[in-house]
Amino acid sequence: MEERIKIIQESVDSFSVTTKDELENFRLKFLSKKGEIPALFDELKNAAPEEKKKLGKVLNDLKQLAENKFKSLQESIDSVSSISTNQIDLSLPVIPNKTGNLHPLNLTRYRIIEIFERLGFNVSDGPEVEDDWHNFTALNFAENHPAREMQDTFFVEKNPDVLLRTHTSNVQVRLMKNKKPPIRSIMPGRVYRNEAISARAHCFFHQVEGLYVDKNVGFSDLKQTLYHFAKEMFGNETKIRLRPSFFPFTEPSAEIDISCLICHGKGCNVCKYSGWVEIAGSGMVHPHVLKNGGIDPEEYTGFAFGMGIERITMLRYSINDLRLFSENDLRFLKQFKSVV
Ligand code: DAH
Repeated sequence: MEERIKIIQESVDSFSVTTKDELENFRLKFLSKKGEIPALFDELKNAAPEEKKKLGKVLNDLKQLAENKFKSLQESIDSVSSISTNQIDLSLPVIPNKTGNLHPLNLTRYRIIEIFERLGFNVSDGPEVEDDWHNFTALNFAENHPAREMQDTFFVEKNPDVLLRTHTSNVQVRLMKNKKPPIRSIMPGRVYRNEAISARAHCFFHQVEGLYVDKNVGFSDLKQTLYHFAKEMFGNETKIRLRPSFFPFTEPSAEIDISCLICHGKGCNVCKYSGWVEIAGSGMVHPHVLKNGGIDPEEYTGFAFGMGIERITMLRYSINDLRLFSENDLRFLKQFKSVV
């Protein structure tokens, strides 16, 4: 009998389990009523009295050992199963982090700022409710210029002198008044025009104005700056084209086109089969405007440009309807990532 006790002792010691079923097998094999240890206790009844005493002690030790082993096996199984059922399953996919997205217009605005900041431009701000002087007169608009008419401009109440700015060019003169050259600044912001809302027009939209005033600023600086911008914004292959144009506040004036990103010049409906898409108005700051800003046009020259943030965003992400930007439809907004 002693031999058998030893064998059972060893097998209790070396028993290991990983599931609840295996633990139950341990209990059945050694501890249950029909298990091996109670069977030995049954046999003990028939042993000689002096044997009984000695073997009884050994058997009790074995029973204690088996019970302790059962407890520790149970604990280890419980701790493993509580991890796998209640806590971490490393094989599960991560729960998406539901932070908001940046609006595509902001993504483009930040990118524009980033590009110009690297060229040494800073960012300036100006009022959206503006007076006639800064929005029109100081920028050399003639008294009867059509842009001043009711159909274009939102006036605030009935005061013809207070209006919602129709472009970000209003910040130009404020900047010149407040700063001495060199001035190298971009001015992003919202502008307003009394237009019927459609896929191509809206009553409010966003522009970025640029102004560079210093000694010896030439047209070639304007051209090179905007060429650099176009390549940074739309890719190294992008070409630019300047078309003569007219703005009251610049002379000479030019419209800036970039080679069409969609068809690369072959012709498509985005570029209306011309191979070119307009992205900005620009020119050399008119001497009258410099004067109105308190800067001597004999000493200083400058260039200016203005571009629509919506337009650039539409080209950048192939968006074909301006209204999407202001409808706040999450299905649209969620498509843009949060990094610039
Ligand atoms: N202000 C013009 C517009 O709203 C855009 C513009 C054109 C701005 C030429 C400029 C410029 O600074 O030089 O259409």
